[in-house]
Amino acid sequence: MMEHKGFTLWFTGLSGSGKSTLADLVAETLNKKNFRVERLDGDEVRQHLTRDLGFSREDREENVRRISFVAKLLTRNGVVVITSFISPYQEMRKDAREEIGSESFVEVFVKCPLDVCKKRDVKGLYKKAINGEIENFTGVSHPYEVPENPEIIVETDKMTPKECAGGIINELYHLGFL
Ligand SMILES: Nc1ncnc2c1ncn2[C@@H]1O[C@H](COP(=O)(O)OP(=O)(O)OP(=O)(O)O)[C@@H](O)[C@H]1O
Ligand SMILES: [Mg+2]
Repeated sequence: MMEHKGFTLWFTGLSGSGKSTLADLVAETLNKKNFRVERLDGDEVRQHLTRDLGFSREDREENVRRISFVAKLLTRNGVVVITSFISPYQEMRKDAREEIGSESFVEVFVKCPLDVCKKRDVKGLYKKAINGEIENFTGVSHPYEVPENPEIIVETDKMTPKECAGGIINELYHLGFL
């Protein structure tokens, strides 16, 4: 096993923007390169680590606080952590960066226009949110603060998932993480 430093690749973006899709593809590529990789994904984490939490601002902050803590433990033990959560607030992402350590934190803005996400509606959640069946839904009834200084931006309405994932891997080389 080759030696490598841990870092956290923090995907942020609207629901349906492509965070989980790209996180999986990037994890697959890094696994093939013999990196130790762990995925922390919103849907799974919310069924286990944070199943007591909802989607109010306070609960979203607590969700990200716990995830950041786990990511920190793994990162300092040399794991490449790939997280995929909407993480809608600038401040919570800043807190995550501080907790994990700025030198080991790579914020990836998964950029996709809201109307494209709504059209994709992978989980049928936008439809429910628009019909008022779900409260506090990001982009509909809850804010999303666009990242100000992400290390990486991918525009998922302009390229295929494979191209976006390849772009992220390239950027990681340029940034010196690979
Ligand atoms: N370039 C692209 N990158 C990623 N996904 C894309 C791209 N183009 C189209 N898609 C499609 O967009 C959808 C993205 O869904 P995905 O579940 O990855 O979103 P998400 O950001 O994880 O949402 P959520 O926050 O609800 O978990 C998938 O159906 C995927 O195939
Ligand atoms: Mg997802």
